[in-house]
Amino acid sequence: MNGTMQVNAQGHLTIGGCDAVELARTYGTPLYVFDEEAVRQRAAEYRQALSSLADSEVIYAGKAFLTVGMAALVKQLGLGLDVVSGGELFTALQASFPPERIFFHGNNKSESELNAALDADVGRIVVDSLYELQQLSQLARARGVTARIYLRLTPGVEAHTHSYIQTGQSDSKFGLAIAGGAAMKAVRQAQELANIQLLGVHCHIGSQIFDTSAFDATVLLMMDFMAAAAQEGHYIKELDLGGGLGIRHTDDDDPMDVKMFGEFLADRLQEAAQERGLPVPKLLIEPGRSLVGEAGTTLYTVGVIKELPGIRTYASVDGGMGDNPRVSLYQAVYEGLVANRMMEPGNHTYTVAGKCCESGDKLLFDVELPKLEPGDILAVPSTGAYNYSMSSNYNLLPRPAVVSVYQGTSEVMVEREQYQDLTRLHKIPQRWR
Ligand SMILES: Cc1ncc(COP(=O)(O)O)c(C=O)c1O
Repeated sequence: MNGTMQVNAQGHLTIGGCDAVELARTYGTPLYVFDEEAVRQRAAEYRQALSSLADSEVIYAGKAFLTVGMAALVKQLGLGLDVVSGGELFTALQASFPPERIFFHGNNKSESELNAALDADVGRIVVDSLYELQQLSQLARARGVTARIYLRLTPGVEAHTHSYIQTGQSDSKFGLAIAGGAAMKAVRQAQELANIQLLGVHCHIGSQIFDTSAFDATVLLMMDFMAAAAQEGHYIKELDLGGGLGIRHTDDDDPMDVKMFGEFLADRLQEAAQERGLPVPKLLIEPGRSLVGEAGTTLYTVGVIKELPGIRTYASVDGGMGDNPRVSLYQAVYEGLVANRMMEPGNHTYTVAGKCCESGDKLLFDVELPKLEPGDILAVPSTGAYNYSMSSNYNLLPRPAVVSVYQGTSEVMVEREQYQDLTRLHKIPQRWR
């Protein structure tokens, strides 16, 4: 079981000391439950893991899950924050997140997003293309400011993960390829362009990665690149290796320990720098999923149970692909727990389906659970990352509430959407009235 999960005397699942069945009763379902303690622990582990380095920073990748409350927690934890859009930047600023700790990413930032980043004076803008480099130089010049930048590079590493979440290979919409020379061209241009200060290079090779080999290759390739740049007289002082550490969704997943992972990166970096006669750069990492993924659990209420003899038994819940699109998008695999009957053996096999009008709207496949009854509370763990942030209103289902739990108390981080929220922006054109 993840984070602070336990089972209480009534045989109910508890998270952060709160009874999950009570949470479902109080706040309704579907409900995202956010285990604050689990996030605090992960953040501390990450920081500890990099502590052998003279200079390092842990940046939370906000795309995994960002709300104003989450930005406030990240601020309190002393981490940096990655944002990838004007909306994420706005959300961070709403929480008075220190702009100097914000890293602005994106492969196609709009002019207004770049201007917003410059106006907020964010710590780093991560430039993704030669076009953006020129554009940013002009915008910074017009404002009379200097943009502190990283260049996002694609080192040519293929991480072993789903092809939609691989990003470090050369054939990618992201970044400047090292192979072929685009990356070095960008370094040269960045040094020459007005109002641009090149501080570092960045890469992100993919997500849900379970072994160190791809990270190992990446450190070496990035350090080779930094050595080649140094030979040309361009000294790059900061190296951001992105995120990507996998998490446990099911018992079959065996993720690396955060501490081991961080220590591995720190050691490899120090060795690689020494081998190349370079000073050890400042190391930055940008975990998203591994900071919040296992801290999130979604609670659903079981409704219709449909037995197809000799085929399968479907149990439908009151959420689905609207609150967790990752199953239909990436064939992500999750597990389920029956929160109100944790002590009962899982001796029935179910396919758990959502309530959207799509045959593909399924959450769990052939999972062993106690015999389900309508009204049971199904908990799906490891939904803290890329669930709320990727949720939709498909079928005009209101998005669930998000509740944080900590040491026996619960507090709303995001209110449940109401029907009025669904139509708030709708208009009837004059001719149709
Ligand atoms: C640039 C960048 N950094 C960090 C992350 C976070 O990755 P993860 O959630 O796998 O740790 C992503 C995810 O897509 C990313 O694109």
